[in-house]
Amino acid sequence: MEFFVSTASASRQRTDCAIVGVYDKGVLSAAAEDLDARIGGRIAKLVKRGDLRGKTGDAVLLADLSGAPVERVIVLGLGNRSAFKRKQYRKALASALALLSKTGARDAISYLGLDEVADADAYTQARVAVEAVAASQYRIPDHKTSNKRPKPSLIRFGLAVASRGDKGQAERGLAHGEAIVSGMAFMRDLANQPANVCTPSYLARAAKNLAKDHKKLNVRVLNEAECKRLGMGSFLSVTNGSEEPAAFIVFEYYGAERSQAPVVLVGKAVTFDTGGISLKPPAAMDEMKFDMSGGASVFGTMKAVAELELPINVIGVVPACENMPSGRATKPGDIVKSMSGQTIEVLNTDAEGRLILCDAITYSRRFKPEVVIDLATLTGACVIALGNHLSGLFSNDDELAAELKAAGDRADDRAWHMPIGEEYGEQLKSNFADFANVAGREGGAITAACFLAKFTDGLRWAHLDIAGTAYQAGANKGSTGRPVPLLVDYLINKK
Ligand code: BES
Ligand code: MN
Ligand code: ZN
Repeated sequence: MEFFVSTASASRQRTDCAIVGVYDKGVLSAAAEDLDARIGGRIAKLVKRGDLRGKTGDAVLLADLSGAPVERVIVLGLGNRSAFKRKQYRKALASALALLSKTGARDAISYLGLDEVADADAYTQARVAVEAVAASQYRIPDHKTSNKRPKPSLIRFGLAVASRGDKGQAERGLAHGEAIVSGMAFMRDLANQPANVCTPSYLARAAKNLAKDHKKLNVRVLNEAECKRLGMGSFLSVTNGSEEPAAFIVFEYYGAERSQAPVVLVGKAVTFDTGGISLKPPAAMDEMKFDMSGGASVFGTMKAVAELELPINVIGVVPACENMPSGRATKPGDIVKSMSGQTIEVLNTDAEGRLILCDAITYSRRFKPEVVIDLATLTGACVIALGNHLSGLFSNDDELAAELKAAGDRADDRAWHMPIGEEYGEQLKSNFADFANVAGREGGAITAACFLAKFTDGLRWAHLDIAGTAYQAGANKGSTGRPVPLLVDYLINKK
């Protein structure tokens, strides 16, 4: 896919498909007006006949246009002009691309940004456009032997901007957008694979392959013996029941002086979570193949960072394993020793994410990080609290939380700042070890974060619970690519 920015007007530029909009009450946008003069007033007629009312999301295709430099026109409803914002812009583009994908058009140009989008400058519009195109073109790497969805015919997408000044901004937005969607697709491809394909070893290979493409990116994979030598008793207790070897994957990206403290991203990669001896019920258990989404989001973010060659240092730490029941599996009541030295009573083997993350957080200390951010499909309780729209954001540093929240807002990949605190942490009390790995149903997402907080003394740390946002269930089951947009936005805007 190739993206470009143009400053030519709709009535002059040759394209397979021009995308223009009409506001409600039949008010043509400036670009629609301009183009309409060249195509015999077809857009005005469309509106007059009542075939396009201008509601956001409406889309009509016009073809057989004599005298025009365009093969087709997609006319979109944009809704109320004063309410036309980023959200409506994104929605309108999505309907345009849905319609476009049913045509044979190989290139298209959007003129939507020529009229103002209240809360999106040329930079943001470009980023949103790239994301919309990518969303319409993404294909799950499925294992179907027939009924393959055809490859999209669209290979070039242009964005019209009003001025030369906007052009530079839009080009920067395109570049950032392209890196974000490339990272998202990488994450989604990994997460959408079934757990019998996407094993910890598969992830390790994928990491090494990624590093081959980028000079500034290196990957190291620790095996179970090496993890044992480092004292990762908590991480290893989760993989006990599995036949698949665990892998502890470490990315190192140096885009700045080595002496500059890095951002460390820690991602949970349980390639399948059965619950272990605390076995999960069968309903929707297949979705636990997505339990490596936090790790996969680190893969995606590392890819985007490397493609953008960001001038910062970023480390990715991805503990990968399966959580399986077996004669060798960890049992409820077993006590394990974490790399930090603290002992944990494993009261529920299904609370395994925190057990692998705590050792990964401790490991990250060797990089003397500026911040540590962990990403994890950690709790069902977070989905109950926030649904599928916002990720749960927890931190021991309010400033860091605010920065991450702002990044999520800008990237339309939102998170909500949730509390942590002593009073919640007390629920993790154990009679037999320093603390337990579970604390009862109440405030489950918070007590999980408080468990992790016990390993973050002296670190600037944040935790994103992405259980509700990293994948979709139901008819559109699949990975969403979140929170790659939030993370990349945060890293782009860092200092
Ligand atoms: N991977 C799950 C969390 C999860 C649940 C993600 C639903 C996505 C959808 C995690 O390992 C888990 O099982 N958590 C338990 C914790 C409980 C035992 C304290 C949960 O949420 O039920
Ligand atoms: Mn679990
Ligand atoms: Zn899990």
